[in-house]
Amino acid sequence: MTNILVAYASWKGTSQEVAAEIAGILREQGAQVDLEAAGKMRSVEGYDGVVLGASVRMGRPNSAAIAFLRRHVAKLASIPTALFIVCMTMKDCTEENIKTAESYMDKLKTAAPAVKPMAEGLFAGQMVPEVFPWPASKLITREAMGDAGDYRDWEAIRAWAAGLAAKLAG
Ligand SMILES: Cc1cc2nc3c(=O)[nH]c(=O)nc-3n(C[C@H](O)[C@H](O)[C@H](O)COP(=O)(O)O)c2cc1C
Repeated sequence: MTNILVAYASWKGTSQEVAAEIAGILREQGAQVDLEAAGKMRSVEGYDGVVLGASVRMGRPNSAAIAFLRRHVAKLASIPTALFIVCMTMKDCTEENIKTAESYMDKLKTAAPAVKPMAEGLFAGQMVPEVFPWPASKLITREAMGDAGDYRDWEAIRAWAAGLAAKLAG
């Protein structure tokens, strides 16, 4: 059975829930899947493939994802690895916004250029301002905030995950 790690780097759990959905789809397709916080993984030995997801704040992917890529670069470069980003920019799928989201993905990839992702997902997240106490709420720019709400496109997320299964098996 294919052994897959789905790792997430999330502040408030939005991308963790996206990762859980992806893990569920991969399980439905017959894979053995571990779902873990990227920051907790000391080793990725024994996995046939890895999916890593990170949310974005202030233009930067969560640093736990960057650290994960740096720490495990040798192994990740040798097995199928997929990356996804969760951000508010993807709320509106304009050409400009896709470019911005791609720039977040580039920041992730720059952390470990030897890792050549076999799939890259750019997903909208959610913004629930009332859960952010001062001073975090003061840091949220108008651009980053967009219109508050949950913009996760579960159909797009599931479709992306379904397309991963065969590729992750190598
Ligand atoms: C303080 C703060 C800064 C953010 N900055 C950005 C940003 O620069 N670009 C963007 O597209 N989304 C930004 N967002 C939106 C988050 O990426 C979005 O809320 C995401 O769903 C968070 O996922 P998480 O709960 O897994 O961390 C920001 C959110 C917060 C709270």
